[in-house]
Amino acid sequence: MKTVLVTGANRGLGFALATGFLEAGWRVIAVAREMPELPQTDQLQVELCDLTDGQAIQALAARLQGAPIDVLINNAAMYDSPPNDETITTDFTQICHLFQVNTIAPKVLADALVGNLHAGVDKLVVTMSSGMGTYAEFDEYHAKHWAYSASKTAVNYAMVSFAKMNPSFTSVLINPGWMQTAIGGDDAPLQPKESAEAIIDLITNHKNKLPNARMVDYTGKHVDF
Ligand SMILES: NC(=O)c1ccc[n+]([C@@H]2O[C@H](COP(=O)([O-])OP(=O)(O)OC[C@H]3O[C@@H](n4cnc5c(N)ncnc54)[C@H](OP(=O)(O)O)[C@@H]3O)[C@@H](O)[C@H]2O)c1
Repeated sequence: MKTVLVTGANRGLGFALATGFLEAGWRVIAVAREMPELPQTDQLQVELCDLTDGQAIQALAARLQGAPIDVLINNAAMYDSPPNDETITTDFTQICHLFQVNTIAPKVLADALVGNLHAGVDKLVVTMSSGMGTYAEFDEYHAKHWAYSASKTAVNYAMVSFAKMNPSFTSVLINPGWMQTAIGGDDAPLQPKESAEAIIDLITNHKNKLPNARMVDYTGKHVDF
């Protein structure tokens, strides 16, 4: 049985990914700040962890020591506005938390789980990025939301660095699309379940569409950084 670790598994895309992988027969390590309402099966292991806390990330890795992980999905993230509200935060501490969750935690967690990933078969690290983190799509809206956008640009760099330092793994950035979640808001055209199903299909059936140190969208199409 393959094992996937998903961060932010209690809602939004992370919840849909965890649910979908459980349905597909995978073992799921669901990482969240609070107990997710996922189906309680033997396949599910819940690990509580706040990704703004470096010691909590290292403690999580210590609890998982020796457990093979085939796929790590860095999914958790924060936005710089409340849901359906264009008020952009200017609070210094909140912006620091945003960079901790969106940029630093994915790289630190991947580094901490290198042994687990070596013990797995797929050796795949997937990090959810965004078109807002690319120079190719840069516009005024992205500039206004500079903190979120820059945190995604920086996580692209961080996970390309992870790829460089770990040549036996594939480290891919995925833009999951504009989804109806707390981050995406109510006007988004895509449900998180649709994006999750496409991403699970890419991971399980089309791994050749997942390039190392590059970004694709949830259908596997190349995205320029
Ligand atoms: N929605 C979109 O349109 C869109 C577009 C492009 C990219 N993305 C990316 O897709 C991914 C999933 O986003 P989403 O739309 O599903 O967002 P979401 O519904 O807001 O979910 C965010 C998840 O991140 C978790 N999280 C936030 N801060 C955390 C912390 N300190 N420690 C642990 N977990 C934390 C949340 O947990 P709590 O419940 O504990 O806060 C939640 O589970 C993100 O990387 C996002 O940037 C989304």
